Amino acid sequence: MAGVENYLSRKKVAPRVLVVDDESCSRMTVRRWLTRAGFRCGEAASIGEAMARLHDREVHLLTLDISLPDRSGLEILSQIKQRWPDTEVLVLTALEETATAIEAMTLGAYSYLLKPIGSRELILQAKKALEHRDLIVEHRHYTATLEAKVHQQMQAIRSAHEETILRLLSASRYRDEETGTHVRRTGLYCELFTEVLGWPPDQVQNIRLAAPMHDLGKIGIPDAILQKPSKLTPEEFAVMKTHTVIGAQMLEGSESEILQMAHEIAMSHHERWDGTGYPQGLAGLAIPESARILALVDVYDALTHYRVYHEALPEEQAMEIMEQGCGKHFDPFLFSIFISLLPEFRRIAQQNTDDRVDSYKPSRANVLARPR
Ligand SMILES: [Fe+2]
Ligand SMILES: [Fe+2]
Repeated sequence: MAGVENYLSRKKVAPRVLVVDDESCSRMTVRRWLTRAGFRCGEAASIGEAMARLHDREVHLLTLDISLPDRSGLEILSQIKQRWPDTEVLVLTALEETATAIEAMTLGAYSYLLKPIGSRELILQAKKALEHRDLIVEHRHYTATLEAKVHQQMQAIRSAHEETILRLLSASRYRDEETGTHVRRTGLYCELFTEVLGWPPDQVQNIRLAAPMHDLGKIGIPDAILQKPSKLTPEEFAVMKTHTVIGAQMLEGSESEILQMAHEIAMSHHERWDGTGYPQGLAGLAIPESARILALVDVYDALTHYRVYHEALPEEQAMEIMEQGCGKHFDPFLFSIFISLLPEFRRIAQQNTDDRVDSYKPSRANVLARPR
């Protein structure tokens, strides 16, 4: 049996076979043949004994008699294949019935062999069954490795994407009052918010990356307006408002779902629930949900952190101001979710603080003097 020797010589450890047969003579003969061929063999005289052995240690191949004292081998076959799918089964029986053979194969047997069987045929069938098992195990391992690699690469692409976005944003914030931690926090608040709302996981990740780009359009606003610490004139405010459209133009037409979401947020994050916002005066559910969420977390974060035109407010005071906007500025349903998430937002804010900027308190209080 050169083929079997070749097969076994490639294996570091000889495959383990369990011979299940209630006739001791037949059992011992099969065991002797397989052991001589180089397999490691165990024996079981009943289903109960076989199950105990299978629980005990991994079995690569089972030779299974059908007529057993406790139960029929066929009864237990599907259970064995479900529980130990990598165990190949050779049914070895004196029952010469086509229907039984078909049933055995349907239940997962690799082969249906009739007694009496010669040693050469039995060993050949054992080798073929084990080669079949090896292929399945290798294929599964290959698929799992491939899936893990794809997942790893997707993660790498996503984090490169994220880094690119944050670095580009850091370039724009050199001239803006918004800090790097503000834009990062808005992404994290939105991530939590949409998770609680039950958004699909990929969209939750998209908004985490898209939200920080909400004010990208401020890159097109002159310094004299952008960095003015006092109240803007109506003309200046009209210019300031265009940051929504400028940002949307910068982000529009992309195939990337992240940039598509960033586009709708940039365009609509200053719309108000009652229709008095800008640039389009959209109202209620006509405002994209992503922008309605961003509007809430953006105002919350702006109020509770230092800006060039106001001090950081205590959360209580910030909430008093925001509550006045419920149903006017903010979507009332989202506002109730927002309130329930405040402890989590507080935690996010504490973990994402730029000490140099966020803790700086100017002596001149000019709270909310400037339209946002
Ligand atoms: Fe804005
Ligand atoms: Fe903002």
